[in-house]
Amino acid sequence: MVAAGAVNGREGWSSKTAFVLAAIGSAVGLGNLWRFPTEAGENGGGAFVLVYIACVILICLPVLLAETLIGRYGQDSPTLSARKLAVDSGASPLWEGVAGVGILTATIVAGFYCVVGGWVLYYVGVFAVDSVSSGVTGGALQGMDVDAVSALFPSLLESPSLVVGLQLLFVVVTAFFTYRGVSKGIELMAVYLMPVFFFLLIAITVYGMFSGAFGDAVAYLFTFEPEKIDGTVVLAALGQAFFSLSLGMAGMMTYGSYVGRDVNLAGTSGVIAAADTGVALLAGLCIFPIVFAAGIAAGAGPGLMFQAIPVAFQSIPGGSLVGLLFFLMVTVAALTSSVALFEVPTAWAMEKFHVSRPKAALSMIALIGALGVFAGLSFNALAEFHPLDFIPIFTGMGMFDILDTLTTKLMIPIGAILVCVLVGWVASDRLVDAENGLSGWLHRFWRLLIRYLSPLALVLILIYGLFA
Ligand code: PHE
Repeated sequence: MVAAGAVNGREGWSSKTAFVLAAIGSAVGLGNLWRFPTEAGENGGGAFVLVYIACVILICLPVLLAETLIGRYGQDSPTLSARKLAVDSGASPLWEGVAGVGILTATIVAGFYCVVGGWVLYYVGVFAVDSVSSGVTGGALQGMDVDAVSALFPSLLESPSLVVGLQLLFVVVTAFFTYRGVSKGIELMAVYLMPVFFFLLIAITVYGMFSGAFGDAVAYLFTFEPEKIDGTVVLAALGQAFFSLSLGMAGMMTYGSYVGRDVNLAGTSGVIAAADTGVALLAGLCIFPIVFAAGIAAGAGPGLMFQAIPVAFQSIPGGSLVGLLFFLMVTVAALTSSVALFEVPTAWAMEKFHVSRPKAALSMIALIGALGVFAGLSFNALAEFHPLDFIPIFTGMGMFDILDTLTTKLMIPIGAILVCVLVGWVASDRLVDAENGLSGWLHRFWRLLIRYLSPLALVLILIYGLFA
C-alpha cells in the first residue's frame, strides 16, 4: 500500500515539515550531545567552536545539499538514485558505488551507535530508580560517593550481559520504527519526539543557567583564542561536523529520496544545518555549566557524559529528576539518529532484494545487532581480541574502536569525496534549477565549494586520519 505522501510510487514524507524534522532528528544525536562537548573540551573550547561553525557553512552544507539532491533526483534507493544520476549524465552506472560506500558505512556505524545507545538506557534506568527511591528533591544517587558514581560506568562496561542486553534492546526499539515505515514510523517519531527533545534541552540549559556555572561555560565555549587553532583542531572540527550532519553515510540521500519535487532543498539544507549546529552549541551550554559547577575538567574525554554528568547531578538540588530528564533527552536524540542509520540499509535491501519492509527491518536486527554484539563485547569478554593489530591505524584496538575508526576516519571521508565528485563534476549542472533553490550567485558559490573546497578538505581529513 502506498501512503498519502507517496513519492515515485514509494512511501514518502507527508509534508515538507515532516522531512525537515526527520532530517534534524537524524542529524541531532549522540554526535551533538556526546561527541561535540567532548571534542570541544579536548580541542581548546572557543577556537574549536569557531572553526566548527566555519566548517559547517563552507564545507559540510554544500555536501548536505548534494546528498539530498541525489536522493530526490532518483526518488529511489540510494544506489539506484546515484546510478540514475550518473547514467543520465552520460557516466558509468558504477557510480552507484558512491551510495554503496555510504550504505556500508551507515550499517557499521549503526552497529556501534546502538552500543552507546544502550549505555544511555542504562543511565535512564539508574536515574529512574533513583528518582523513585530517593525522592526528587535531593541530589542524585544519595549515599554514594563520587568515586562510586564514576565507577558505575566502568562496571557497566565490564558486564557483557548488561552491555549486550541494552544494546539489543536499543536495536529492537529502533527496528520497530523502521518496520512501521517512513510516514507511520520515522516521521511520526520525529514529529512527536523532536519537540520533546527541544523542550528538554532548553529546560535543562535554563536550569544550568541558574544553578550551574553558566558564566564559566559561556566563557569556555565562546572565548576565541586564535593561537589555539592548529591542524589538529581544524581536522577534529571537520570530522565532527561531517558525522554530526549525518554526511557520507547515504543517510541524507535516503531521506532526500522521500521528498517531493516541490521542496526547495537549498532552503531545507540550511535549516537542517542551522538546527544541528544550534543543538551542538546548546548541548555545550547545557552540559558544561553542570560539569564546571561540580569542579570537573572540560577535557574529561568520552567519560564526560557517562561519568562527569552523573557525578555532577549528584551534587545539585533536584539532581535525580534532572538526571532522569537529561538521559531521556539523550535517548530521544540517539533514537531518531539510529532510525536514520537503519533506514539506509533497509531502503537498499527492500529495493535490491525485493523484500517487504518488515522482512528488511528484521534482517537489520540480525545484522546490526550482531555487529553491535562484537562491538559491545570488546569492552569485556573480547577485550583482548585485537584482530587488526597488523594494520597501523588499528593497532591495539578492539572491535568497537576499529569500527569507529574505520568509519569516521576512512569511510565517511571517502563516501563524501565521491559525493562531491559525482555531483560537482560528473553530473555537473544537472541538479541545478530554481526549484532546488539554486540559481544565480548561490549556484555559482555552491558549485565552487562542491567542486573544490569540500573535496579538498575531505582529502585532508583522510590523509590526516591515515597518517597522523
Ligand atoms: N548525525 C548523527 C549524530 O550526530 C549520527 C548519524 C549519522 C545519524 C548518519 C544518521 C546517519 O549522532
